[in-house]
Amino acid sequence: MAYNLLKGKKGLIFGALNEKSIAWKVAERAHEEGAEIVLSNTAVAMRMGSIDELAAKCNAIIIPADATSIPDLENLTDKTMEHFGGKFDFILHSIGMSPNVRKGRTYDDLDYDYLQKTLDISAISFHKIIQTCWKKDAITHGGSIVALSYIAAQRTLYGYNDMADAKALLESIARSFGYIYGRERGVRINTVSQSPTETTAGSGVMGFDALLDFSNRMSPIGNANADDCADFCITLFSDLTRKITMQNIYNDGGFSSMGMSNKAMAIYNRNLEECKDCN
Ligand SMILES: NC(=O)c1ccc[n+]([C@@H]2O[C@H](COP(=O)([O-])OP(=O)(O)OC[C@H]3O[C@@H](n4cnc5c(N)ncnc54)[C@H](O)[C@@H]3O)[C@@H](O)[C@H]2O)c1
Repeated sequence: MAYNLLKGKKGLIFGALNEKSIAWKVAERAHEEGAEIVLSNTAVAMRMGSIDELAAKCNAIIIPADATSIPDLENLTDKTMEHFGGKFDFILHSIGMSPNVRKGRTYDDLDYDYLQKTLDISAISFHKIIQTCWKKDAITHGGSIVALSYIAAQRTLYGYNDMADAKALLESIARSFGYIYGRERGVRINTVSQSPTETTAGSGVMGFDALLDFSNRMSPIGNANADDCADFCITLFSDLTRKITMQNIYNDGGFSSMGMSNKAMAIYNRNLEECKDCN
C-alpha cells in the first residue's frame, strides 16, 4: 500500500544489483511512494546484474559509478543534478564488499590490501559520496542520507570478519558528517542496522544460513527482510522523521536487545552434547 510519503521528492539509490538486493526493494518502494529516482552501481555490476529491469519499472535513469572513485562520484552528482534540474532530497548507500571474505581469509589472517579495499568500498565510499554532494551543495535542506549497516559494528559475530570494522566506520561517518551537514544545511544522516537478509552480499558471509536461523530464533518478531528494510528506509527519506539524525537504528525484529530466547535455547539444548568441544 502506498501513502505518497515521497511525493515530489528526488533521490539517488546506490547498490541495486538484482531483485534480491535491498536497494532494489528500496527503489521499488520509493517509486511507489511518488519519488523520482536515479540508480547507480559499478559498470561490472550493471553487466552482471539486472538493474536495467529495475530502471524500466521505476522510470529511472542509471548512471554508473564506482563509489570509491571521486571523479566517478563528481560525474554522477553533476549528472543527477542535471537530470533533476537541481538539488535532490535523499540518498541510499547500499554498498558492501570484502575481498577478505570473498577469498576466505579469516580475521586472524587478513590480507591488508584487501582490508583497505573492504574499508574503502564498504565505509569510506559513504564519506566520499557525502563529501562530493556537500561540495556541490547537491542535497536540499531537510534532505536525508541513509546507509545500511549490521550489528557486527557493536557485537562480535562469528564469520563477519573485516566487514565488522567497515560497519563500525560507516556508522561513525554517519555521526561525524551528520553533525556538519545537519548544523550547516539541515540534512539528516542515519544508518539502518538490518537483520541478516538473503542477498548476494549477505549469502557471502560464512555460515550465513545458520546466522539467519539464529537471529530469527532470537528475534521476538522475527528477522526483518528486504521489504521490511525498504519500508523503514522510506520513512527515513520522508518528512515524518525530520528530526532523526546521527542515529544507528536497528531494523531487526528485536534481536539487538536479546540475550537468549526460548526458540534459540531449544536448539542449543538439543546440540549441547554434540558441541561440547566447539570454540
Ligand atoms: N544481506 C544482509 O544480510 C545485510 C544485513 C545488514 C546490512 N547489509 C548491508 O546492505 C547493503 C546492501 O547489500 P545487499 O545485502 O543488498 O547485497 P547486494 O550484493 O545486493 O548489494 C551490494 C551492492 O554493493 C555494490 N558495490 C560493490 N562494490 C561497489 C563499488 N565499488 N561501488 C559501487 N557499488 C558497489 C554491488 O554492486 C551491489 O549492488 C550492504 O551495505 C550490506 O552490508 C546487508
